[in-house]
Amino acid sequence: MKIFIDTAELREIRAACSWGIVDGLTTNPTLIRKAVQARESVDIGSYIAEICKTVPGPVSLEVGSLDEETMVQEATSLFRRFNPISQNVVIKIPANTSTGDGQPDFEGLKAMTQLSERGIPVNATLIMTPEQALLCAKAGAKYVSPFMGRVDDFNKESQTSRGSSEPAASGEQLVFDIVQVLGSYQFDCEVIAASVRHVAHVRAAEMSGAHIATIPFRVLLEMARHPKTVEGIRRFTSDLVPEYSELLSSLPLT
Ligand code: E4P
Repeated sequence: MKIFIDTAELREIRAACSWGIVDGLTTNPTLIRKAVQARESVDIGSYIAEICKTVPGPVSLEVGSLDEETMVQEATSLFRRFNPISQNVVIKIPANTSTGDGQPDFEGLKAMTQLSERGIPVNATLIMTPEQALLCAKAGAKYVSPFMGRVDDFNKESQTSRGSSEPAASGEQLVFDIVQVLGSYQFDCEVIAASVRHVAHVRAAEMSGAHIATIPFRVLLEMARHPKTVEGIRRFTSDLVPEYSELLSSLPLT
């Protein structure tokens, strides 16, 4: 499974890339906002260019508009401006851009179709059901991003505030189902397990056969840690006999 980092914070991006485990990156407007607010001032164009240079793989940048025409314009401009830097830009388009007040439900799909026909790679975002994933794959998306954490949030909210007792599919099940559906029909579309909140989500993504998980920096740190690894390191360090330490330090530096 490939690992993308889910952040727009350059300090985190540089650190994780230096570990050699990053295959790509995803951003969204909230992540960009956090990175901008953490600084006194920022030249957002140069900042995004630096992200594109730093990451050794696809970098997802999201549009901000909600209608097909403007999303296609924004996506095309973002792609033209930032893709030449490292040829790694992917455009994030929401599966459905309706804000729930009667707007059309298919602007995202129409934008995906237009962009895919123009050869601009699309990451379909805010996917909460296998049906949304199927529609986006049919609209030519190169990636679909099921949101594990937000689906789990939705299920919890439904149970508590709405008193719903219907069994709901978990975020984990969502990723599993989408991998099965897209695999059965051999779509040329990779599944990015997104909205990852903890290590158990990463494990579920691996077990589901997701092609990619996009993981916050905090969860990447958790993935590296185990109390027994700490205990083992302490023991190995204290067990080093002087003879072996001397041998190690006498070895020629390469
Ligand atoms: C990834 O593409 C998404 O932007 C991200 O995983 C969303 O995560 P959140 O639900 O924790 O905000």
